[in-house]
Amino acid sequence: MSEKAVRNMKIKSLCLHGVDDPALNSMVDFKVAARSNSREELRLALTSVRPDALIIDLDSPTALDALADTREILPEIAIIGVTGETDPKFVISAVRAGCKQISPKPLDVNDLLVAIRRALNDTSSQVTGRVIGVMAATGGAGATTIAACMVMGAAEATKQRALLIDADFDFGGVARAWDLKPEHTVADLLSAGSLDPVLLEKAVVEVPGNVAILARPKTIDEGHAIDDTMMSMLVQTAKTVFPTVVVDFPHKLDGVVWAALQQCDKLVIVIQMTVPAVDNCVRLLSALTSLGVPAEKIEVIVNRYRKNVHFISTELIEERLQKKVMGLVPNDFKSVCAAIDMGRPIPADNAVRTAVTKLAAKLIGIGDEAVVAKSGWFAKLRIRAS
Ligand SMILES: Nc1ncnc2c1ncn2[C@@H]1O[C@H](COP(=O)(O)OP(=O)(O)O)[C@@H](O)[C@H]1O
Ligand SMILES: [Mg+2]
Repeated sequence: MSEKAVRNMKIKSLCLHGVDDPALNSMVDFKVAARSNSREELRLALTSVRPDALIIDLDSPTALDALADTREILPEIAIIGVTGETDPKFVISAVRAGCKQISPKPLDVNDLLVAIRRALNDTSSQVTGRVIGVMAATGGAGATTIAACMVMGAAEATKQRALLIDADFDFGGVARAWDLKPEHTVADLLSAGSLDPVLLEKAVVEVPGNVAILARPKTIDEGHAIDDTMMSMLVQTAKTVFPTVVVDFPHKLDGVVWAALQQCDKLVIVIQMTVPAVDNCVRLLSALTSLGVPAEKIEVIVNRYRKNVHFISTELIEERLQKKVMGLVPNDFKSVCAAIDMGRPIPADNAVRTAVTKLAAKLIGIGDEAVVAKSGWFAKLRIRAS
């Protein structure tokens, strides 16, 4: 087959309904094959041209009827809605009416291109993100602190957006760590019935550093309505949008946690250098092994490390765990407490942050030297991959 024929095969046809922007005529890989403004014109265009995708102005009073017509004539067509509306309820109704993607007004051609490709399930535009779970072996070991630093470190290391999901639905502290009172939470998102990248984007809160946050439910009750299927769907969808997803797990191993955990590429267990923490870590490792989680998926990090203070050594821990410790995060109670109480991230030059950023880079497989300049006493501590 000739190069031109291959290129033509790749070109998808579009129908524009109520949308008129000259920039749409010159989109690579797409051609505008039909335009319509009334329902009659749309029906005719869909039957005669049979386009691959429909771009429709959702702000027209007849948009929902036009969507119904479209689904009736071409049930498989990829529909992209364009709207100036930001109310999530509107977005939910548009998705339920058949829109696979939403692009905001004023129209941005690049954003629309991403939306069209996603709606057409063009795999070349789909992200397959990595998922890093963080769980404490004992309550208060520092999972949330590490997860918050981890997501910032991942965004920094990859120079791409990263998402932090607060999976501690009862007592999670992720939103508080950024002093956020989000309008939407993981519970609102999952109560929509179906999940889609557009809805996910609406539910997350962007914070500085290329990081997005999905907050815990507003009430404990709402969290209890989330089941393992919903949780699994959430992580699966998040992976298609964000190159890195960090999940801050609660201090328990139940069905909902397991649903997310199965999709983790890495699970980081956070311990402190105490005998009970090591005992619990042994217990957790054994449970994970019996559930079939491969050992190489699991990493152990020691948090709140202080030189020459602990009763037990890293060698003893490694002997008990039969596993290398991946890294040590220093103790800095004053800075960590101040950050939590003020709802501000731990500063980028703080030793806790730099240690976790290095670990994030290592987990992702990026050389840590490229990310954090070696400096100070902590740089001399060993941080190694197991
Ligand atoms: N590296 C650290 N140095 C000092 N204190 C820490 C450190 N990490 C966590 N903490 C403290 O431990 C407490 C529990 O931390 P958190 O991250 O909420 O743990 P978890 O999520 O495991 O319950 C917080 O009050 C925090 O101040
Ligand atoms: Mg926590």
